[in-house]
Amino acid sequence: MSGLLNARVAFVTGGASGIGRATALALSAEGAKVAVADLNGAAAAQTAAMISQAGFEAWSCHLDVTDRQAVDACVDGVVARWGRLDIGFNNAGVSLENDGIAWDDLARIDKTMDINYRGVLLCMSAQLRHMLPAGRGAIINTSSIAGVSGAGGTGYCASKHAVIGLTRALASRHAASGVRINAVCPGVIETNMTKEFLDHPEGRKMLSALVPMGRFGRPEDIADAVVFLASDKASFITGHPLVVDGGRMAA
Ligand code: NAI
Repeated sequence: MSGLLNARVAFVTGGASGIGRATALALSAEGAKVAVADLNGAAAAQTAAMISQAGFEAWSCHLDVTDRQAVDACVDGVVARWGRLDIGFNNAGVSLENDGIAWDDLARIDKTMDINYRGVLLCMSAQLRHMLPAGRGAIINTSSIAGVSGAGGTGYCASKHAVIGLTRALASRHAASGVRINAVCPGVIETNMTKEFLDHPEGRKMLSALVPMGRFGRPEDIADAVVFLASDKASFITGHPLVVDGGRMAA
């Protein structure tokens, strides 16, 4: 621990598993108090317990990011508990189009947009209500390489493009406020979301051939990027979609 985030308070969605859990652990290891929020309340509590066992401070919160009241209550609860909010990692997301469904399945696209895009918007709205008056804060939204290319299902791809648009729009609007807003764009990372595909030798082989570094990402690869964007080391960076993909988008 280098104490990069000492005395900061962070709020992480999707913190029950994968990228969110790894990032919650990494933020706390750098000194931040971390609120772990997720639809899976029991697993979010497990992440918080892992942080506590490592000797750091954490709290967990059960929420659905599409529910405005729940999001507001959870974010307000963090500020009531710790007196401030410095870091928002808006990361909860779903990929609902892994089974070859029609590209224009509107029900699935609407649900994807609701969680992946509208959920991020609601979280940002709740966070900015505290950060803007304080004149400081760092928000990082999880997009994807599907946010900067045509990869993935149509709803997923559109939702992740939308996250980058939202990030840029609010970053430029609030650039002089002391609040920085960026996005992280993971390539293929080994988590529950990709497990089904990567468990198949054929799927694994096909996807790994697309990654110039020759390996898939680990949740910790994304956590490191988020810690950087959340820290003062990134103090002149706002509105940026940071691609973390082993070189895939460069190929
Ligand atoms: P994951 O499935 O391990 O974690 C997603 C978490 O989001 C779960 O804990 C889930 O309970 C939570 N969640 C889902 N819907 C929610 C809701 N309505 N409200 C609150 N929480 C909810 O998957 P992973 O890979 O860690 O995904 C995290 C983010 O990274 C997602 O936004 C995903 O789209 C993005 N991503 C993942 C990539 C990958 O290859 N794994 C690649 C690019 C982006």
